[in-house]
Amino acid sequence: MKVVIQDDSPAVARYGAYIFREQLQKQPASVFGLATGSTPLSLYRELINSTRRGEISFSQVRSFNLDEYMDLAPQHPQSYRAFMDREFFNQIDIDTANTMVPPGDAANPLTACSEYENAIAAAGGIDIQLLGIGRNGHIGFNEPTSCLASRTRVKTLTRQTIDDNARFFDAGEFQPQLSITMGIGTIMEAKLVMLLATGKSKAKAIKDMVEGPVSAWCPASALQMHPSTVVIVDEEAASELSDPDFFKHIEQQNQALLARLKSRRYPS
Ligand code: F6R
Repeated sequence: MKVVIQDDSPAVARYGAYIFREQLQKQPASVFGLATGSTPLSLYRELINSTRRGEISFSQVRSFNLDEYMDLAPQHPQSYRAFMDREFFNQIDIDTANTMVPPGDAANPLTACSEYENAIAAAGGIDIQLLGIGRNGHIGFNEPTSCLASRTRVKTLTRQTIDDNARFFDAGEFQPQLSITMGIGTIMEAKLVMLLATGKSKAKAIKDMVEGPVSAWCPASALQMHPSTVVIVDEEAASELSDPDFFKHIEQQNQALLARLKSRRYPS
């Protein structure tokens, strides 16, 4: 697990956007796993601006979102489909037919889950899976106690997650208690996993994910077993790590190595 500590939230977004841009320039027909929530918004803004400047194009991209509330129609403003259309898809040159979000209103959610898995496999798997993290260590809606080998399925949300997301619903409005989410096993098959976290409220979850035992109590800790995960955090989210300076030192070394490779000072 590579941990990159940046000064603040805008720097986290810029670092993440750089990786997406590199991937798109190398492979325009990439498959991206995408997340909703507050954390990726600045990253999406960076990518929208890059698209407007003509640096990248999403015209050949296919995307799969991590999760969706159950029992919300896609047109509901709080559905993750509506969030993605509003915050990202409608502002880039992606073909919306190539953007998949689990169907929260499926007549048969169980069939819909296995169809979602099949669609990811048929697309050739996910090149970059973007993740946020819940204060309780969840990724997607894989709440604590989730099976670390789980696949896309219906999950019950914890009280903490329902409370955290209550801010998006009007008082008295129906708020879903169930979701469809990619499983941890599904996420673990992505070629690269990029997890972003900002702010003090995520510090404990980041510590548990990076340093804690691999445990269903912190679903994100499964990423310790993923061969290519980059965790990009701001100083606040990194503030409970035991040795943040070591991660900063590693990043400096990595950047120096990259610069040497780019200037071709290495003997070939
Ligand atoms: C969103 C998702 C969730 C969020 C997490 C953090 O699609 O799967 O796991 O990434 O709840 O949410 P924010 O970014 O709002 O703190």
